[in-house]
Amino acid sequence: MSYQVVLLPGDGIGPEVTNAAVQVMKTAAEVFNVALEFNEQLIGGCSYEKYQVPLTDETLQACYDSDAVFLGAVGGPKWESLPHQLKPEAALLKLRKALGLFTNIRPAKVYDALIDSSTMKKEVLHGTDFIVLRELTGGIYFGEPRGFDNERGWNTMEYSREEVERIGRMAFKMARERRRKVTSVDKANVLEVSQFWRNTIHEVHKEFTDVELNDMYVDNAAMQIVRNPKQFDVVLTSNLFGDILSDIAGMITGSLGMLPSASIGSKYSLYEPVHGSAPDIAGQGSANPLAAISSVALMFNYTFGIQKAADVIEKAIELALAKGLRTQDILSEGCKLVSTQEMTNAVIENINEIYHNQALGVFSL
Ligand code: IPM
Ligand code: MN
Repeated sequence: MSYQVVLLPGDGIGPEVTNAAVQVMKTAAEVFNVALEFNEQLIGGCSYEKYQVPLTDETLQACYDSDAVFLGAVGGPKWESLPHQLKPEAALLKLRKALGLFTNIRPAKVYDALIDSSTMKKEVLHGTDFIVLRELTGGIYFGEPRGFDNERGWNTMEYSREEVERIGRMAFKMARERRRKVTSVDKANVLEVSQFWRNTIHEVHKEFTDVELNDMYVDNAAMQIVRNPKQFDVVLTSNLFGDILSDIAGMITGSLGMLPSASIGSKYSLYEPVHGSAPDIAGQGSANPLAAISSVALMFNYTFGIQKAADVIEKAIELALAKGLRTQDILSEGCKLVSTQEMTNAVIENINEIYHNQALGVFSL
């Protein structure tokens, strides 16, 4: 079986972490016997520089022809003052919409080795393992009318029944594979769109009565994630609320540099680290590649259907951390500061080692 993987390194540290991700993809592909073909394309600011648009038809077509897309990061100060539709971020939004990637999965779990480097208390963090399931192609990100003039600015938050039902079903299905608990996050005390969301999710829930459902207002959810993150299993929410809550969830892992994501539709899938392009550290070889590498694990799981590969990659990350290796964003006392490439090398070595030991029966997942 051969898969077409489109690489969209993008801007800032995007190319550095994509490079790390590709090395891990190649290693895992070899170990688990899958053939990968890569096709690299421009997106974001770098595409604007060359073609005056952040997303070309060529890039889009390559994605339509792909089995999976890997994206580094887009954006930077250089392009901030461009009109809305020419901004690097607009390319990412257009791509999500064009590929129909309505489900965004952002797992927030605690790596034991990092528990001390988090700004949060150890007792609060220990055992935390939830996913933010963010609706990705609707809501206020895409609603019309939108715009601003000299006197006012406006956006529209709208959800259709179909949009809410399909993300709701995804949430309940994912919960069935986990701890069977869905927390649906909204602002139904103020917004009609949220009341509609809540009603619809409760209707969908009738098909999944073996899963527990509870509702939470988004302001409370932001507080609860920090107060007691262990209470969550699947946090289901809309596009804007999910954007905000997933950054909060990023701090559970110690750094946004650790948080992976998968964006999935009925036909296509895209994997990207949650962090941005971090222009301040771009080109230094110091970026944390682990969110990108962890996104590769999600790719092997969701697109290639090899959960074992995902487990091995995740274990390899844990092992690198357990050995005390740290990029600057997660550095703590007594640990060894390493570069992007050194961290990547360590993960690759660990993948080979884990797989080898497993074959010998020394290690089991
Ligand atoms: C994210 C990012 C994007 C978003 C931006 C870059 C458009 O913040 O993936 O969380 O808001 O969705
Ligand atoms: Mn975001």
